[in-house]
Amino acid sequence: MSRPMALLDIITAPDPRLKKKAEPVERVDAATAKLMADMLETMYDAPGVGLAAPQVGVLKRIIVVDPAREEAPPAPLKMANPEIIWASEETKPHEEGCLSLPEEYDEVVRPDKIKVRYIDENNELRTVDADGLLSVIIQHEMDHLNGVLFVDHISSVKRSMIMRRLTKQKKFEKLGKRHALETA
Ligand code: NI
Repeated sequence: MSRPMALLDIITAPDPRLKKKAEPVERVDAATAKLMADMLETMYDAPGVGLAAPQVGVLKRIIVVDPAREEAPPAPLKMANPEIIWASEETKPHEEGCLSLPEEYDEVVRPDKIKVRYIDENNELRTVDADGLLSVIIQHEMDHLNGVLFVDHISSVKRSMIMRRLTKQKKFEKLGKRHALETA
């Protein structure tokens, strides 16, 4: 039986739910596979190249990623309990953004290559070797499972600047919503 996909709401910072540690998945059952499919749909719709379950309010160790460029065929990975079992000593800087920190970007330095073990949407144990963009995205999404945002890797001065902008933006959106209700 095929079920319709659903778009999920993405939580934006600052929000205490983005700072929590997510729980491991016991097994990938039909409900978890459905969540993975919905997360992927939500990610493509945003659009983004990765999404972690805590960003949609689910404190489970689940991420979805797809580093394929727009003109390339989709290459999604759905991962439960991802674990980095090897990382290169060589690091590389990469400009990162995040669906939970809209319009904010900065350079983060991470290991260049990684080997990751995870459980896929069919509850099979797998490993993947990642470098380049895929490596960056997996590491970024895995951070979300530990309540870590990309801004936690940059200088505190830059981080507070970004968080101030996001806080202001949130207040502004709340006011806008109230105004729309009052004038409706
Ligand atoms: Ni993110």
